[in-house]
Amino acid sequence: MTTHLSFDVHLNERARSAAEREQVLASPGFGQTFTDHMIAVDWTEGRGWHDARLEPYAPLVLDPATAVFHYAQELFEGLKAYRQTNGSIVSFRPHANAARFNQSAARMAMPELPEDVFVESLDLLVRTDRDWVPTTEGHSLYLRPFMIATQVGLGVNHPSGTYRYMVIASPAASYFTSGLKPVTVWLSTEYTRAAPGGTGFAKCGGNYAAAFVAQRQAVEQGCDQVVWLDAFEHRWVEEMGGMNLFFVFGDRLLTPALTGTLLPGITRDSILSLAEELGLRAEEGKISIEEWQAGCETGELTEVFACGTAAVVTPVGAVKGSDREWVVGDGGTGPVTRRIREELVGIQYGARPDTHNWVHKV
Ligand code: PLP
Ligand code: COI
Repeated sequence: MTTHLSFDVHLNERARSAAEREQVLASPGFGQTFTDHMIAVDWTEGRGWHDARLEPYAPLVLDPATAVFHYAQELFEGLKAYRQTNGSIVSFRPHANAARFNQSAARMAMPELPEDVFVESLDLLVRTDRDWVPTTEGHSLYLRPFMIATQVGLGVNHPSGTYRYMVIASPAASYFTSGLKPVTVWLSTEYTRAAPGGTGFAKCGGNYAAAFVAQRQAVEQGCDQVVWLDAFEHRWVEEMGGMNLFFVFGDRLLTPALTGTLLPGITRDSILSLAEELGLRAEEGKISIEEWQAGCETGELTEVFACGTAAVVTPVGAVKGSDREWVVGDGGTGPVTRRIREELVGIQYGARPDTHNWVHKV
């Protein structure tokens, strides 16, 4: 089976002009507009990965009976490329995304992609479309690697025999239109995101498809995001729809442990590593919604923040459930949240030393 691939390069003859690009970059939103190229690599049972290429960004033509449309055998990743203050372009911990991609692949009975092919594919796309990496402070190029089952047929007795891995890229401002303003969260006690033995730890599209109904409910309740709770008691905090959670008790940080039902976030892992350097004690454990509420009422729980590639570090200002509602701290952005955000963003954009070797030069 292949472990090294070389990419054929087909440049886009209809790439957008500098003026068109600048217009997009002036206000990129999140995941709205895509760059001029994309990556595709095919996999066939018995042959492995083949036909690696960079090609013009374009729609796909797929048979309506293609497996991914019916059984959602699909997975994805998300990471960003940053233009640093010295002008170099970097991505953040791409090998960690490659490893998580393969953990998701194993769960979804899909083929693993060699880590160096994953990282090389991102580097090639970012190098080719480097003019799309924003120069505006706080903006970045969001990279979306994904894999779909491409076998045609409706049988479910075995996984697909063919797959396509792809990468697309999109200039990104902040994920929440409100910027660093604290978000309000909705406790989902009606729906469950993931149960033990399921796919909660995998970054597969189905987890997100099943979450939209609760997200819609959150918005109807005047909230920005859903907090997912455990499947049995709907009491123990797991994560949010697209980010992990941290609870700040003075100088102690607590984040829900990786039980298999939540996504092992790379931002989460980075914050756990950074905590000590910032004079904080970090631990992974359990926290219930009652403890969350009581901690806020006694003042022991001083801040709560969400973290993820798209969300970076975002304060949680208020919590709402079907039978309760409370404010976290003074409802604003606390000092620990602010410090962690500054440290992380500083490393990503090159303003702080990268002592962990997380930054990958493209
Ligand atoms: N949890 C979920 C469900 C997510 O979709 C994400 C985003 O990728 C995260 C957590 C945070 O993960 P990361 O920090 O790797 O972006
Ligand atoms: C990310 O942060 O990369 C995510 O995947 C969050 C969301 C856009 C799904």
